[in-house]
Amino acid sequence: MLEQLKEELITCASEISLHDYLEPEHCHLIEPFDVSGHYYKLLIAYCKLKQPKRIIEVGFREGWSARCMSVAVPDAKIASYDLTMQHLNYDPKYDNVIHDTVGPDFAWCELSYDNADFVFIDAEHDGTLEQKILKRILATNFQGYVFWDDIRFNTPMSDFWKQITLPKIEVEEFATKKRDGSSMGFGVTYHEG
Ligand SMILES: C[S@@+](CC[C@H](N)C(=O)[O-])C[C@H]1O[C@@H](n2cnc3c(N)ncnc32)[C@H](O)[C@@H]1O
Repeated sequence: MLEQLKEELITCASEISLHDYLEPEHCHLIEPFDVSGHYYKLLIAYCKLKQPKRIIEVGFREGWSARCMSVAVPDAKIASYDLTMQHLNYDPKYDNVIHDTVGPDFAWCELSYDNADFVFIDAEHDGTLEQKILKRILATNFQGYVFWDDIRFNTPMSDFWKQITLPKIEVEEFATKKRDGSSMGFGVTYHEG
């Protein structure tokens, strides 16, 4: 199932232009990192293919990934969380995105993981937060896919990814690249609920 999803994601993502989802100045800022294979395209591809309606994102920053998902599924409700409100310029026209600060235990999440149908994690990348989030998800009836950005960012993240026993797959093709050309990794887990 994950192999098939990966194939579908890559095919769909290959046809996506980020210019259809982000403002020109945003595209210009991310293009130096990885022009053709950006993980935003995977999020967009997933949203186009599966049409999730209740999305949770941890790690909002300036809201670009949230915006990509928001444009791809305008009728979805997206709850995106961060530690601080750094994103005051976020365009209010994307009003299906709720963005808020979150405590370390995510108790403020308006959408619980039980109710969500897609989760994207792109936050601390220290392995510890990710482990906490995974534990929290596993304690719910969440059923569906969780996308994990930067699973090869550092050793704690690689260790975190390695010890996951759920069905999982890596999608190297659209992972962010480090300066030396190596991959930061991008992982997908499947949760039975
Ligand atoms: C890589 S950025 C997110 C980028 C965004 N997802 C995108 O692709 O446009 C990571 C964000 O995670 C946030 N973060 C770090 N620890 C967090 C935590 N415990 N809870 C929520 N957000 C956290 C950081 O403040 C930072 O803004």
